[in-house]
Amino acid sequence: MSSAASGASVRRVAVLGTGTMGQGIAQVTAQAGYVTHLFDVDAARIDRAIESIKQVTDRLVQKGKMLNEARSEIIGALVPTPDLARAAKDVDLVIESAPEQMDLKVGLLREVKSLAPESAILGTNTSSLSVTEIGNRIGAAHRTIGLHFFNPPPVMELLELVRGLATDDATVDTCLAVAKRLGKTPIVVNDAPGFATSRLGVVIGAEAMRMLESGVASVEDIDRAMELGYRHPMGPLKLTDLVGLDVRLAILEHLHKEIGEQFRPPAILRQMVRAGRLGKKTGEGFYRWTEAGPVPTSFKR
Ligand code: 3HC
Repeated sequence: MSSAASGASVRRVAVLGTGTMGQGIAQVTAQAGYVTHLFDVDAARIDRAIESIKQVTDRLVQKGKMLNEARSEIIGALVPTPDLARAAKDVDLVIESAPEQMDLKVGLLREVKSLAPESAILGTNTSSLSVTEIGNRIGAAHRTIGLHFFNPPPVMELLELVRGLATDDATVDTCLAVAKRLGKTPIVVNDAPGFATSRLGVVIGAEAMRMLESGVASVEDIDRAMELGYRHPMGPLKLTDLVGLDVRLAILEHLHKEIGEQFRPPAILRQMVRAGRLGKKTGEGFYRWTEAGPVPTSFKR
């Protein structure tokens, strides 16, 4: 087996961004034995991400799901740094996990491209933006690929590989092997707005919000409908809270522009984002996230 096919050609990974996804992805890559550089422009955010990974893995040890030695290896594999040159040095794979804004992602990846080895694969954890455009704008389209993880990254089985128009076979093959080493099941999707996952996923979430706006049912009952009637692990409003209302809004705005009317963001979503109610990460969205668990918010018609 070639080293690309086994994933062994990748030894060092840089994860750029320490939001919910970035820290989860870093946990997954460190857990798979990759030396993982963890970068953010804000050093305090990196500290918080490392602390959170320590807490999550500590809970796994306490529950008997992880050996203490394995936990120590994960923490030891993490190399936190607010210096992009250091983060990019000698890495074989970059996973950019910055907020869902094209110019931000392009700016960061363009800079990292000039600092990382010329052979490094440039992955973007975008939920919906064009991988073809990102690759073209950073001037390395053949080695640019979408690596779309799902929240929470350590738990969710899927890794959606998004192939841009000019992404080469070697890049896809190496990422398929990396996905397997991460313990994920990969799918390969051609670049199209929202890929195979977000395009379907946000429709249910947006429709649930429109139903809430028009008073069809309460937050709790809309979620129960899908949890108990369709066996979704969590209802669409709770899931929106988990993903982040700002993230969902950015995806919907992009798909509305690219595909059409069915993706128009609901007014309630815009209002809640304006109010800073971004879901679990800010403590309030369609639910209030208390120590005792999520409590549904009541919305008046
Ligand atoms: N590392 C390792 N394991 C973890 C973990 C972590 N960081 N966090 C949780 N776990 C494990 C727990 O130990 C637990 O394991 P166990 O069942 O063996 O005890 C398991 O995950 C489940 O955790 P909990 O018991 O705390 O919670 P639930 O059983 O309620 O499950 C959930 C939580 C996995 C989030 C489940 O509700 C679910 O699958 N929800 C749907 C998630 C989803 O659809 N995500 C996709 C969103 S879309 C997206 O992300 C795309 C992006 O582009 C926007």
